[in-house]
Amino acid sequence: MEVVRTIEALRAAVAAAKSEGKTVGLVPTMGALHQGHLSLIERSKEMDSFTVVSIFVNPTQFGPAEDFTRYPRPFEVDAEKCRKAGVDLIFAPLVEEVYPEGFATYVEVGGVTEMLEGAYRPGHFRGVATVVLKLFTAVEPKRAYFGMKDYQQLKVIQKMVRDLNLNIEIVPVPTFREPDGLAMSSRNAYLNPEERQAALCLYRALNIAREAVDAGERNAETVRQKALDVIQSEPLAKPDYVAVVDPETLMPVDCVDGPVLVALAVRIGNTRLIDNMLIGGQS
Ligand code: PAF
Repeated sequence: MEVVRTIEALRAAVAAAKSEGKTVGLVPTMGALHQGHLSLIERSKEMDSFTVVSIFVNPTQFGPAEDFTRYPRPFEVDAEKCRKAGVDLIFAPLVEEVYPEGFATYVEVGGVTEMLEGAYRPGHFRGVATVVLKLFTAVEPKRAYFGMKDYQQLKVIQKMVRDLNLNIEIVPVPTFREPDGLAMSSRNAYLNPEERQAALCLYRALNIAREAVDAGERNAETVRQKALDVIQSEPLAKPDYVAVVDPETLMPVDCVDGPVLVALAVRIGNTRLIDNMLIGGQS
């Protein structure tokens, strides 16, 4: 497994793989790799013959009061996990490589960026779309793999790919959960044992919503309220939002008469966690 730090070296390594007839899969990450990332890598290895993992804590997607500086950066551990997982190439650039002096071009995806995370984290998706487009143009993968825990991010990337006619297949990969249901996230490492326990309210809330719909509830506000009640009954949890939305437009729905996405963002102490579940598919 090779580790490259520059776009030039990345391009050379990818070109060599392509010249051998390999198809390139890209797994974009910010490092602090967990089982969820490893499932993206696994999927890439199933579908493509050369897997590139990017490890880059992207400053432009963090707000001024967010956790950019304290975001975990265990590079050696990550590299070892990649090696064991059979990754072919790690791209781990410095900030100056991605955003050189004078950098001034950003990608603004409209529509699906405005609500949910977009409303609470202004500029977040502009930073995500910009760095992902830069990764796409540097790697030119056949496919790129994104986890469904960041469901809105997945929709933003899909929209960018459509709107800009990028010739890249976006492969969604289901959320990977701990045995007790907590969605894997690099930010789970911030939780102390008490907060870790409290964080289970996210998954509990999603399940309560699903059970209500499975039992025949069709009023989206009733479903939303049931999920919110679960979050509000956990003393360490402060909800940013609990929403029942259309899985494509991410706009709130009134009636659960087909698949809907229940999405939530909750602060547990100083840690902000998100999770979601697609429900109501069978009706
Ligand atoms: O999901 C993430 O880890 C990041 O948002 C991504 C896609 C790697 C862009 O920095």
